[in-house]
Amino acid sequence: MNTFISIQPEPDTRLRQWMNHEQDRFLETHLTSAALQTHCDAHYLFGMPMHWMRDWPNAHGLFIEQASQATLTCVDRHVYADFCLGDTGAMFGHSPQPVAKVLVDSAFQGLTCMLPAKCAAEVGESLSEVFGLPMWQMALSASDANRFVLRWVRAITGRQKILVFDGCYHGAVDETLVDRLDSGEVVDRDSVLGGLHSHAVSTRVVPFNDLEALQAALSDGQVAALLAEPALTNCGLVLPEENYWQQAQALCQRYGTLLIMDETHTVSTALGGWSRLHGVVPDFLVVGKAVAAGLPCAVYGFSEAVAERMRQAKQQSAPGHSGIGTTLSGNMLALAVLGASLSQLHTPSSYEAMQSGADRLASGLRQSILKSGRPWTLTRLGARMELQFMPHSPKNAGDVRAAEQSQLQQLLHLFMLNRGVVITPFHCMMLISPVTTSAQIDHLLSVFDEFLEGLAQLNL
Ligand SMILES: Cc1ncc(COP(=O)(O)O)c(C=O)c1O
Repeated sequence: MNTFISIQPEPDTRLRQWMNHEQDRFLETHLTSAALQTHCDAHYLFGMPMHWMRDWPNAHGLFIEQASQATLTCVDRHVYADFCLGDTGAMFGHSPQPVAKVLVDSAFQGLTCMLPAKCAAEVGESLSEVFGLPMWQMALSASDANRFVLRWVRAITGRQKILVFDGCYHGAVDETLVDRLDSGEVVDRDSVLGGLHSHAVSTRVVPFNDLEALQAALSDGQVAALLAEPALTNCGLVLPEENYWQQAQALCQRYGTLLIMDETHTVSTALGGWSRLHGVVPDFLVVGKAVAAGLPCAVYGFSEAVAERMRQAKQQSAPGHSGIGTTLSGNMLALAVLGASLSQLHTPSSYEAMQSGADRLASGLRQSILKSGRPWTLTRLGARMELQFMPHSPKNAGDVRAAEQSQLQQLLHLFMLNRGVVITPFHCMMLISPVTTSAQIDHLLSVFDEFLEGLAQLNL
């Protein structure tokens, strides 16, 4: 998730009128949601249990009665094909049967006791089998996992600086909430609330797919780690150029910088994530969200060599709080569900189904774009794809910013929502789960064609 800041074209009056019409349609058809919103307004900041839930284009919240497979049913009994899938948390579908069953059964065996559950050894083995790294630690969210890994890398390298890519999002992690200006200067992100320290001094930011910039940022040997997604997924979708990562990793190794791959979203690429598919073995790997089928749980893995450095750092420090870990991390319930998720969802057959659904959706969207003659692109990575209002796939976040059209994007989201299709807010990402049906994909395609026709009729 990332509310990505960009330069916007002037608002278009025709789009605004169309948007107003779609808002009216939403309001007229979601009366129960409207009533719940009024009730929630009295108890929740911005009327939502978590304030970003307000950041959708619809005039008030869309309250969900049930989420099952790749389908959402709202309290007004409208049914939606869900291509957002909880921004990847529900990548394997909502409440997958095998996991729901283990969840129920395990709930009677104990929820948390700050001791390892019996299944811990087996789950550790599954993590290594699925993701390829031998050693693991747990957290409750990907944000937490990233925060903990950043502490570890500083502790084991004795270096303070970290490096991220322009356009990145790694969760609520202070060190990463900085922006790179066109001049190259790094500044604290304006939107961040309550920041105490300036992270612009300790975080370096370089454009993605730029090896020269990467080398320049690493060459003084002060950077503890590069924290990166293998492909940027939070400012649209930006793919790595061929061999980029092999060379980028070689640079990290040359300058003693650890590589942290955050595969929280790119785990949708293939079984075990992008890095496993491409044979890039990072020093640390972070996976959250879908790792335990959307239950609060995240993991970070590391090599044996890194583990040895972590042991030394811990042994050499004073006894007491490490600042790493939380009481509920690795709790009994999360471990049981993680185990079920790894053995029953992170499987070749899940990914085959995801890829084949994604083939169908990508080819349909590409045909529609071609037929419409619009200079738009579909960028795809495994089961994830992004509609981009630009003629070619972007090379970095700067390209994405230059082509951003938020008015059009918001209209597309609401238009789809009003016709039973949910896509990820903030950008135009669509994700396919193993249980997304062909009928749902065809429905999205026909709504997209309707949208293109609407644009043509307005001479837009
Ligand atoms: C790549 C990446 N890492 C980490 C996170 C943080 O995940 P969470 O909000 O579950 O902590 C996100 C959230 O969107 C993400 O996209």
